[in-house]
Amino acid sequence: MRYDIKNIKLAAVGKKRIEWAFKDMPVLNLVKARWQKEKPLNGVRLSACLHVTAETANLVRTLKAGGAKVLLCASNPLSTQDDVAAGLVKDFGINVYAIHGENKNIYYSHLEKALQFKPNITMDDGADLLWLLHTKYKKQVEQIWGSMEETTTGVIRLKALEQAGKLQAPIIAVNDAKTKNMFDNRYGTGQSTIDGIIRATDILIAGKNVVVAGYGWCGRGFASRARGMGAKVIITEVDEIKALEACMDGFQVMPMKQAARLGDLFCTLTGNTGVIREEHFRLMKDKAIVCNSGHFDVEINISELNKLAVKINKNVRNNVDEYVIKVESQKSKVKSIYLLADGRLINLAAAEGHPASVMDMSFSTQALACEFVAKNYQKLEKKIYNVPTEIEKYVADLKLKSMKISIDKLTKEQEKYLRSWEIGT
Ligand code: ADE
Repeated sequence: MRYDIKNIKLAAVGKKRIEWAFKDMPVLNLVKARWQKEKPLNGVRLSACLHVTAETANLVRTLKAGGAKVLLCASNPLSTQDDVAAGLVKDFGINVYAIHGENKNIYYSHLEKALQFKPNITMDDGADLLWLLHTKYKKQVEQIWGSMEETTTGVIRLKALEQAGKLQAPIIAVNDAKTKNMFDNRYGTGQSTIDGIIRATDILIAGKNVVVAGYGWCGRGFASRARGMGAKVIITEVDEIKALEACMDGFQVMPMKQAARLGDLFCTLTGNTGVIREEHFRLMKDKAIVCNSGHFDVEINISELNKLAVKINKNVRNNVDEYVIKVESQKSKVKSIYLLADGRLINLAAAEGHPASVMDMSFSTQALACEFVAKNYQKLEKKIYNVPTEIEKYVADLKLKSMKISIDKLTKEQEKYLRSWEIGT
């Protein structure tokens, strides 16, 4: 066993959390039960760079049950659940390199451990492992059968690598599967972002002006949950279609510069950089709360906030820093802006990430994509693949069954109708 974790004594609590989550992951339970018999991952060495949560723990247990030798490292320094990491090492025999709050050097040294494990399959949430495989560890990239990517930001990064003609491994864009993004990004992020904000601040959402930057699946999920709790929601967007959609979904849409004056709470979910910056901080109301639920901590320009601040009160509450800045119009007056979780993803830093029930779909898709790579790697090219449709249908079907929901089947007549072009008006 190889590991670097906070404290192995936390294992008992971690084990309980892992088992609790697994009860709400019926599809993954079925995959694990089948794999225990069939061992489709025999001979696979798998390094996974994911958020180290109870749900991820159940994914890596499943991979191990399928015959893989597994190492897990963190995909974000603030998302690791230390008790889960300990439980994985002690009770489930998984190699884990992850410590909540680890600094950048340790974070990257853990990623290196994941590659020194000599994987032939990798899993990423944000493409950091793949980046390392294309830079310092590029001699190893030839050994990669395939690599799964879990998140929008990671897929964007990998598409840029492919466009540059430098992609050296087959990638499965798990994020782009319908069984992932339509559910995890929307309902998962929607709920867990609210959860993180409330755990960090204990504010009442009802009646607040909530500014949501980005109207992709994540932004939509969060906006609809915030509205459901009584917030007045404003959307900011750069994409015309998404902006129009937000407008017709009944939200106010405006540029951030206009929204900055109105918001009580700001949340970025864009996957882009510098979304909230100096010009916006200057306009914000006293006691505005600012947070991010996008993958990287680049959406809020914290160095500009630092420069503006005349005083910074760290940790006025767990995961809350107060930045005192001069009021634009009355230089003798000051106002406070509260930044949550250092601008890192609030849903994992201050809460527990998405609930197990939705991660069940994402991680069953991940697991089955992994089986697909293990079966087909000799035929795969160095390009980005979508998850095969059969896997999406299989996961959706099992999820419905687990919810005791049955649906209609096409009749013979309907099948024929859908295949025909002759029948018209
Ligand atoms: N991403 C968002 N929520 C997550 C969770 N609970 N586990 C792993 N990755 C996540």
